[in-house]
Amino acid sequence: MLDPLGADTQGAAIISVRDVEKTYGSGAGRFDALRGVSLDIREGESLAIVGKSGSGKSTLMHVLALLDEPTAGTVLLDRRNAKELRSSELNRARNKTFGFVFQQFFLTPTQTVLENVMLPLTIAGMPNRARRAQAMAALEQLELADKAKNKATDLSGGQKQRVVIARALVNHPRIIFADEPTGNLDTATGRTVEDILFTLNREQGITLVIVTHDDDLAARCDRRIQIQDGRILEEATR
Ligand SMILES: Nc1ncnc2c1ncn2[C@@H]1O[C@H](COP(=O)(O)OP(=O)(O)O)[C@@H](O)[C@H]1O
Ligand SMILES: [Mg+2]
Repeated sequence: MLDPLGADTQGAAIISVRDVEKTYGSGAGRFDALRGVSLDIREGESLAIVGKSGSGKSTLMHVLALLDEPTAGTVLLDRRNAKELRSSELNRARNKTFGFVFQQFFLTPTQTVLENVMLPLTIAGMPNRARRAQAMAALEQLELADKAKNKATDLSGGQKQRVVIARALVNHPRIIFADEPTGNLDTATGRTVEDILFTLNREQGITLVIVTHDDDLAARCDRRIQIQDGRILEEATR
């Protein structure tokens, strides 16, 4: 984004990847899911990652979010090589710097909504009373305070996705990574969830990285990169 004087209003790169490759398996089962990807994620931006199923979007997201190590190439977090970070620093980044809205990190059905949202704070070792208060504040922000005591299963799809967003933002992350955040929702509910994400981006400056098949959602992002066969095919800026 450019301000009226033409200066870049968005900040420095939080995460940079350079020449990243990711190979799964070996021998006849070998598959090159990423084949040399370089990309910067800048503070405050919203970035869409689009492409066909199997093109490597989720693999790239996992590498960017330090959940998976690339086979080759470099990942920098605040200009520091991720390989040189201690495991405590990596865990802190995953738990505090990043929030996740991933289908495979879904809610624990037997726990209450509040317990699900408190999880990142529990992992961070926050005392019980403080984490309850902070989790309730996140639920209030998502207009879910009245569901705090419900079991996570007793919610609609849109409510569940809002709980996932509450859990993603409970630690005040700098980046939210979302993998198909509206994939399982009807159009109207999906738009509500999108609006929540873009409001967080605009009002709190939380950086968004969103994998999506939805062209309308991608078009709302500042920047779109298209992945094909593990490479960046095209980049578009709004
Ligand atoms: N753990 C894994 N082991 C082997 N192959 C994998 C694994 N994860 C993903 N792949 C393969 O890598 C390719 C890219 O997967 P993925 O990044 O999930 O694609 P997308 O999110 O774009 O649909 C796919 O062909 C997929 O089958
Ligand atoms: Mg995927």
